Amino acid sequence: MNKLITLFAVVFLAAVTFAGRIELRGPNKSSPLTKLNKYNIAQDSVSVSGVSAGGFFAVQFQVAYSKSLVGAGIFAAGPYYCAQGSLMTAEEQCMAGFANVDLNTIQSTITQYQSQGLIDSTSNLARHKVFLYSGTFDYTVKQSVVQQLATQYQQLGIPQKNIVTNFTVASGHAWITNNYGSLCYLTMTPYINNCNLDGAYQVLNTIYGYIKPKKEAIAANLITFEQTGNFSANYMTGNGYVYVPSSCQRGVSCRLHVVFHGCEQGASILGTTFVENIGMNEYAESNNIIMVYPQVTTGLLNEAGCFDWINFSYTDSNYANKQGGQMKAVANILAALGAKVY
Ligand SMILES: *[C@@H]1O[C@H](CO)[C@@H](O)[C@H](O)[C@H]1NC(C)=O
Ligand SMILES: *[C@@H]1O[C@H](CO)[C@@H](O)[C@H](O)[C@H]1NC(C)=O
Ligand SMILES: *[C@@H]1O[C@H](CO)[C@@H](O)[C@H](O)[C@H]1NC(C)=O
Ligand SMILES: *[C@@H]1O[C@H](CO)[C@@H](O)[C@H](O)[C@H]1NC(C)=O
Repeated sequence: MNKLITLFAVVFLAAVTFAGRIELRGPNKSSPLTKLNKYNIAQDSVSVSGVSAGGFFAVQFQVAYSKSLVGAGIFAAGPYYCAQGSLMTAEEQCMAGFANVDLNTIQSTITQYQSQGLIDSTSNLARHKVFLYSGTFDYTVKQSVVQQLATQYQQLGIPQKNIVTNFTVASGHAWITNNYGSLCYLTMTPYINNCNLDGAYQVLNTIYGYIKPKKEAIAANLITFEQTGNFSANYMTGNGYVYVPSSCQRGVSCRLHVVFHGCEQGASILGTTFVENIGMNEYAESNNIIMVYPQVTTGLLNEAGCFDWINFSYTDSNYANKQGGQMKAVANILAALGAKVY
């Protein structure tokens, strides 16, 4: 744990000056709201995306709740249950790529979880669409790890034609945009890189198809909600964010997409920098998609504020299945917004 955290801390400190330059914004720019409203969520329209730890978590949520979802966009992350509850496995196999991820052992856990009803039947994955991204300069989660996610997706029954990948851009470890963030080849806070590739568009167009050009996001449509009660779990406290396009607020049938931030990208560290600048809200506004951004806060044993893909809290053996604390909290948020969650 310390090695991982120290690594993050060093990168973070080195980059604080840079973060200052890109207008770090306060976490409470939008009006606070305690209760989530229910919206008119279209059938079979829920999908997820994430970067780094948030990418691993997005895969985790996608596989566990495959019946409720239709696809995922993954930046710089690897297979489902890659870490298998071990920090050492996480670092060596799921990040550094020193050894191949043991997909067969993981498959036996998947089979077991499925037979215990702890995850949905993987047969639901056959209709999922996925976008996978990894930069050639990513030394945090190596490309070989992300390649193995592509292999695992196929083993789990996602047809090859439903898997769109981009492994060719010379980028560091980051969420990718074509108009905001660090120089493409760098790996530094806020881990959003400007690479001449519109990551938000790639994700949404792969999953939903026919994505219309973006519109300007409307500040008042970014709503803050409290992650309390059953929206809360280990390290999932404080404010969450949901961007609700004007059309969806008027009752138009809308799709629902969840974005999981990476380590050091939560609002307790970056304010709304991630939520406002990854390019998703602009496409949400023009395409009737509600964007929800659950947040993990920093704390003892989780100083970088990462979603749990390793057994971070050392108390949640179910972190990767539907009984996991953070997994359930996210499922409850989706249900509260009006999605059908199985
Ligand atoms: C934002 O947060 C600061 C500090 O927590 C507080 O003083 C301020 O009143 C808040 N502003 C709004 C608009 O909620
Ligand atoms: C999570 O950590 C706890 C405490 O070390 C351990 O008992 C449990 O087996 C771990 N769960 C997994 C899935 O590794
Ligand atoms: C990946 O994105 C880059 C930048 O937009 C593009 O030039 C390249 O053709 C893409 N590669 C693939 C395989 O789509
Ligand atoms: C979550 O909490 C809300 C509000 O307290 C409640 O309406 C809902 O039934 C709860 N959901 C679950 C799954 O417990």
